[in-house]
Amino acid sequence: IRHLLSGADLDAATATQILDTAAEMATVAGREVKKLPALRGRTVVNLFYEDSTRTRISFEAAAKRLSADVINFSAKGSSVTKGESLKDTALTLQAMGADAVVVRHPASGAPHRLADWVDGSVVNAGDGTHEHPTQALLDAYTMRSRLGRLAGLSVAVVGDVLHSRVARSNVLLLSTLGAKVTLVGPPTLIPVDIAAALAPGTAVSYDLDAVLPGVDVVMMLRVQRERMGDSYFPSAREYARRYGLDGPRLRRLPDHAIVMHPGPMNRGMEITPEVADSPRSTIVEQVANGVSVRMAVLYLLLGGNNR
Ligand code: CP
Repeated sequence: IRHLLSGADLDAATATQILDTAAEMATVAGREVKKLPALRGRTVVNLFYEDSTRTRISFEAAAKRLSADVINFSAKGSSVTKGESLKDTALTLQAMGADAVVVRHPASGAPHRLADWVDGSVVNAGDGTHEHPTQALLDAYTMRSRLGRLAGLSVAVVGDVLHSRVARSNVLLLSTLGAKVTLVGPPTLIPVDIAAALAPGTAVSYDLDAVLPGVDVVMMLRVQRERMGDSYFPSAREYARRYGLDGPRLRRLPDHAIVMHPGPMNRGMEITPEVADSPRSTIVEQVANGVSVRMAVLYLLLGGNNR
């Protein structure tokens, strides 16, 4: 593949190749010399129009561990504040020799437009409420490393599905890899028909307590108050009471089940500190795996099989 814009870009063989390559990359992280020469002479641009901690830093770490040159661009403090368009910004970066552009943007579909304008590879690092495919890959990697497989797993994705690019990319990728996804949350935060539209076989439930005893993975989503405008939202206390993962709910899970969250978390709303910091939580592991997975993505797009 040339670009990674959506979970739908990945068939099972390509997704598995990325996860296997990430496992090889993870061994590099354990070595004394952490760098590989694979992308020496290549330039990766991190083009971030929206805030990020994990994704931006892990793409930077991934590119550097593959010996690429990295340019970090943040819209704040750039000529974007003077009205420069995405296209002109992209062409400027291309003129500086970008081989790959990793883009986060508040507008759904912005990475797809970018892919029409630049010669290099484009990686979607989160576009609006649309998709976040490398998050889905690192989540799948974490599930596979903790539980040994993806096919046949039962995964509950819980909370603010409406605004979640993480949920969309996870539904697409997990379905491709043979897992069964159930979207759980209040009806106001689960778009009508989203499950069927994304992947046939995806279930919807409004009852978290009923779902928990039957899952292998529970993935909590951040409640994205900043994207809700003035639309109705229950109080934090009401939301936590019905859909928050707390100690008693954790104990409803099967013994082997794991708890995930893409971060950043609203501690005390969708997840309590007791659960987030418990041994069942893979939240810190997900961040570490993100570097290996993003190394694999950059390697396969820029230095691997297709060049
Ligand atoms: N999970 C995730 O995308 O986190 P950041 O917004 O910190 O990159």
